[in-house]
Amino acid sequence: MSDKNIISKNKIKENLETEIIGSKIYYYSNINSTNKMASELANSGANEGTIVIADKQTGGKGRRGRNWHSSNKGLWFSLILRPDINISNSHFLTINASLAVYLALDDLGIETEIKWPNDILYQNKKLCGILSEMNSSSSKLNYIVTGIGINVNQKDFPDDIKDKATSLFQIIGDEVNKVKLLKNILFYFENFYFKFLNGAKENILKEWKSKISLLGKEVTVKSNEKIYSGKAIDIARDGRLVILTDKSEIKKFWAGDTSIKL
Ligand code: BTN
Repeated sequence: MSDKNIISKNKIKENLETEIIGSKIYYYSNINSTNKMASELANSGANEGTIVIADKQTGGKGRRGRNWHSSNKGLWFSLILRPDINISNSHFLTINASLAVYLALDDLGIETEIKWPNDILYQNKKLCGILSEMNSSSSKLNYIVTGIGINVNQKDFPDDIKDKATSLFQIIGDEVNKVKLLKNILFYFENFYFKFLNGAKENILKEWKSKISLLGKEVTVKSNEKIYSGKAIDIARDGRLVILTDKSEIKKFWAGDTSIKL
């Protein structure tokens, strides 16, 4: 494996510019899912800011129960967060994560778009997916695990996803240092996270909204097994996508599978 793919706790800790994110690191060469492991650690009391990272996942989890292809060339990690917030604001963790990834990729000279709610695309192909999983009892949030998967140095993908996925290697034509990229993402994430905890939701939402590719476009949204068709007109103040449907109704969505109509 080339040096740019090698992950170690020491390499991550060296010059890491964060206060809490990455204060404890669990690294595995091979794991089922970093989200699953992070949830187990959080259940056993792991502190906020703990990260779980792996070279390879055998059971990488995607949204909606899908599998996430996780060979040893990607960046697969999960953050354990314990914000003292109302559950209704929990989606901000995913928003913060997508902004952090967006900015870190921008630093590499790669201009991406955020596909609502939480995919990062390059020229319509998926570069990064984010899966946040929450643990709560009644209205109390115990913890959130935010898992981030980025296709970094894959030269190719299996047939079933090769038309939909891309990697940084495929874009730049060169390998990217995974640990450097990780540290930059953690730095940006912590910045957004602290801003969020200090109440800067409006600003974060504004920045996120400016990077969402769907707005103003004719789209379909699949949510709760129903398909809605219409124009994506806004992101509401609570982060929901606002659609003016073809039947002239306003519908708001927390999550769903979206596609732009051609
Ligand atoms: C999606 O379906 O778009 C979300 C994909 C999230 C994948 C990441 S990889 C690291 C973390 N561990 C997992 O099992 N899933 C997330």
